[in-house]
Amino acid sequence: MMQAVFAGKKIVVGVTGSIAAFKVAGWVSDLAKEEADVSVIMTQSGMEFVTPLTFAALSGRKVHSEMFGTEIDDPMAHINLGREADLILVAPASANTLAKLANGLADNLLCTTVLASRAQVLICPAMNSRMYSHPATKENIKRLKSLGYTVINPAIGLMACKEEGEGRLAEWDDVKEYVARALSVNDLRGTNVMISAGPTREPLDPARYLSNRSSGKMGYALARAAFRRGAHVTLVSGPTTLPCPVGVDRLQVQTADEMYNAVISHAAKNSIIIKAAAVADYKPAKNHEHKVKKDQIKSHLELEPNKDILLALGKMKKPGQILVGFAAESQNLRDEGVKKLKKKNLDIIAVNDISTKNTGFEVENNQVLLINKSGEEQLPFTSKLHTANLIWNDIVRLIPT
Ligand code: PMT
Repeated sequence: MMQAVFAGKKIVVGVTGSIAAFKVAGWVSDLAKEEADVSVIMTQSGMEFVTPLTFAALSGRKVHSEMFGTEIDDPMAHINLGREADLILVAPASANTLAKLANGLADNLLCTTVLASRAQVLICPAMNSRMYSHPATKENIKRLKSLGYTVINPAIGLMACKEEGEGRLAEWDDVKEYVARALSVNDLRGTNVMISAGPTREPLDPARYLSNRSSGKMGYALARAAFRRGAHVTLVSGPTTLPCPVGVDRLQVQTADEMYNAVISHAAKNSIIIKAAAVADYKPAKNHEHKVKKDQIKSHLELEPNKDILLALGKMKKPGQILVGFAAESQNLRDEGVKKLKKKNLDIIAVNDISTKNTGFEVENNQVLLINKSGEEQLPFTSKLHTANLIWNDIVRLIPT
């Protein structure tokens, strides 16, 4: 379950004529479970694929489809649904509906509602890949974007027509992040942020490396939260098994030296930088070309220090740039945090307590002591995503107005 981003939000889901309509039934069910207030509008073609009863049962509301006729409860539905909506999600969006919306046509309840609304509109195209790649569809998508609608790229894969290509409805996990972004306070809109996450691996030979227990979960949660709040996010990630968060540009690195190069070369473009990565402090003095024999390892384990990336960032910090560090400590959290805050010229440091099994490395939850130049705040024991949002709340207060 995500944070209470969806609860009580009025979402209009527009279902049009595509075989992928059945998948959107699952989306409506999930949004209803998240306690969103979902109203479904179906086009005539949409109702050829899935019955309105399915969506009515899942959303707990009557489905809208007609503009005219004696059966209509609300003759002003096209105005009222659009006026009250926090978000309109058109999914699946057929080529026909894309063309109508791009040209401002209003010949059915869905298109009329979109035209009469000032809510954010998310469009998820789904169609045969040749229809999707046709220049007319491409032009329509360009026009929809220029009108301020968000068009979520379809996925690539095997489609119902047995052809392989781009045109499959995007996955709900991805679309859900865009829905969350549309419904969240976008207090980082237009801000470039860079986050480093995960461990680094320092090779000794082709088989062995030095590393640490970081899973990347904390840094990835910060990236996900920043995307939802409207930021453009660059994530510099050490090796992890985590999928790239939706909407985030990920640069993958292995060693501390690679992380140093990636972070330093992107630093000037970003007004907020968070270093949640656990960078190895030392690396083997030599990366051997061939596997070191077992009985020779001891004599080959000479170490040399890695460059301190955060220290370098602190030295080159531009006026107004916000620099946030992390620290993983098992004792004297406050003193160690304050020392690093000062030494590395940071604005905030988030100190993890790694003396317990339930916080810090690898696990889903965390408990962080946040220290800035004017004080400190003990954050509660909570999920890493919630921790990330609490850290962002603190950072946002420091953004120069
Ligand atoms: O990834 P998870 O499994 O979710 O775990 C999260 C975490 C515990 C790894 C993370 O939240 C965390 O605490 N990261 C920092 C851990 C750490 O390396 O602390 P440190 O005290 O060694 O370093 C202090 C700061 O300097 C960190 O921001 C670190 O990124 C940075 N640093 C350190 C060494 C170095 N050579 N270059 C750096 O930039």
